[in-house]
Amino acid sequence: MKLVELENILKVYPNGIVANRYVNFDVRAGEVHALVGDNGAGKTTLMKILAGFECPTSGVIRVEGRVMKRWNVRKALHNGIVMVHQHFSTVPSLSVLENLILPMRGYFGTARKQVIKKLWELEKILGFQVPLDMKVSELSYGMRQKLEIVKALMMEPRVLILDEPTALLSQDEVMNLFEVVEILKSRGVAVVFISHKLKEVEKIGDRVTILDKGVKVETFEKSERVFLVPGTLNTGTCEHTVLGEELLKVQELWYTYPCGRTALKNVSFSVHAGEIVGIYGPEGNGQKELVEILMGLRKYTSGRVEFRGKDMRGLSTADIRRMGISYVPDNKLEVGTAMKGKVWENLVAGIVRTTEFGRLISPRTLRRWARELMELYGIFPDDPDASMYTLSGGNLQKVILARELSSHPMLLIAHSPTKGLDFRTARFVRSKIREIRHDGGVLLISSDLEEISELCDKVYFMSRGELHPVEDLSSFELSRV
Ligand SMILES: Nc1ncnc2c1ncn2[C@@H]1O[C@H](COP(=O)(O)OP(=O)(O)O)[C@@H](O)[C@H]1O
Ligand SMILES: [Mg+2]
Repeated sequence: MKLVELENILKVYPNGIVANRYVNFDVRAGEVHALVGDNGAGKTTLMKILAGFECPTSGVIRVEGRVMKRWNVRKALHNGIVMVHQHFSTVPSLSVLENLILPMRGYFGTARKQVIKKLWELEKILGFQVPLDMKVSELSYGMRQKLEIVKALMMEPRVLILDEPTALLSQDEVMNLFEVVEILKSRGVAVVFISHKLKEVEKIGDRVTILDKGVKVETFEKSERVFLVPGTLNTGTCEHTVLGEELLKVQELWYTYPCGRTALKNVSFSVHAGEIVGIYGPEGNGQKELVEILMGLRKYTSGRVEFRGKDMRGLSTADIRRMGISYVPDNKLEVGTAMKGKVWENLVAGIVRTTEFGRLISPRTLRRWARELMELYGIFPDDPDASMYTLSGGNLQKVILARELSSHPMLLIAHSPTKGLDFRTARFVRSKIREIRHDGGVLLISSDLEEISELCDKVYFMSRGELHPVEDLSSFELSRV
């Protein structure tokens, strides 16, 4: 049975971008319907229309066969259609419980007690607990993603839309999420699962719809197809490079939170020019703290950090960047972008920063550079004057990467640089990282084994704040299969 149907949906944004061209899409009860396509294909837009966040330019929305008039979020919720957005919607400074109570007020006029009761029922079904008193900012991405889903489930959806829920998750966290999706499915909830990773779609989708540049290519049953997944594991292909100067030296670094939890325990390593040093392991084992310390965003408890022999203690992020260090943060959408301004201004910020004459370069030249970068990275739409706000999540991420990788850093600190990118762009970014190694060094922090094994000259495994050298990555590969 078709629960909901979108018929001939056309969506033209006020800036003239056609995000959906006469798309048909439907959802059946109890299925997982995967919606796939490259960044900018119009997936988010189509689902925002279904969930009432955007109005279609033309087209029809049906619920159980009935045509819906003046569709909006309230009506969508009333009909059990709930969307979990690509960006986290929780307030980091509030506790989990406070976040869950926040949206309930409007609906039920309830407070704590009812929320807790409902949560308790949900937890029994889902088989995990959310730590009610913790601040959201202290949760791992996996937990934050689960919290988003729990928040959505509080509304008792019949159709749950998950917009790229795995973009920020590690492999283990993805597995956990899939289990939750299976449980929901077995209870008759229809799930729309947006993704651009074929592997995931193959695993979780019952039906698959492909969008390309706003146009629906086709919808098919998974059982009809054999999936060809590009990119097999590729080990030991690093070309030989000559080790240069020692750039980064970290010695006996400790970090303990004010609450007493120790996030980094006696961490020591160094990065030379000409090498890519990898830190592999599931997120939440100290990676975030380490990177934030290196970038001057967090003060360490004890130890020493040097860049080219100079003590880095007390330097600001701006100082550190000026020394020739580029930084691609894990959560690119939160800390990496000035959401202000136009795409071209953001793109050339890195170049301007590292050139003495940055301020003297004419806007015309800067725009030309921006255009070149946009083409290289496949940033869509290809309009340098577009406002950052109008970009899709994947394209925002490409802007950050283009900015950081094009500034000719002496050292690049890249935290999950390809997380959430489509296959083509991920491959391009990896080739850029390899290029940087020719005259600089790279510290690559990633929970993606394929990426680590493909790129790194030297690998450490990070676990509970400790760093262990890894001689042979194949042991990890075996344990994953
Ligand atoms: N609010 C908006 N205003 C203008 N253009 C937008 C807006 N949101 C998305 N777009 C554009 O619409 C196209 C489709 O975006 P989106 O639906 O986010 O794609 P996807 O989710 O498949 O990556 C992109 O070109 C994007 O830049
Ligand atoms: Mg999207």
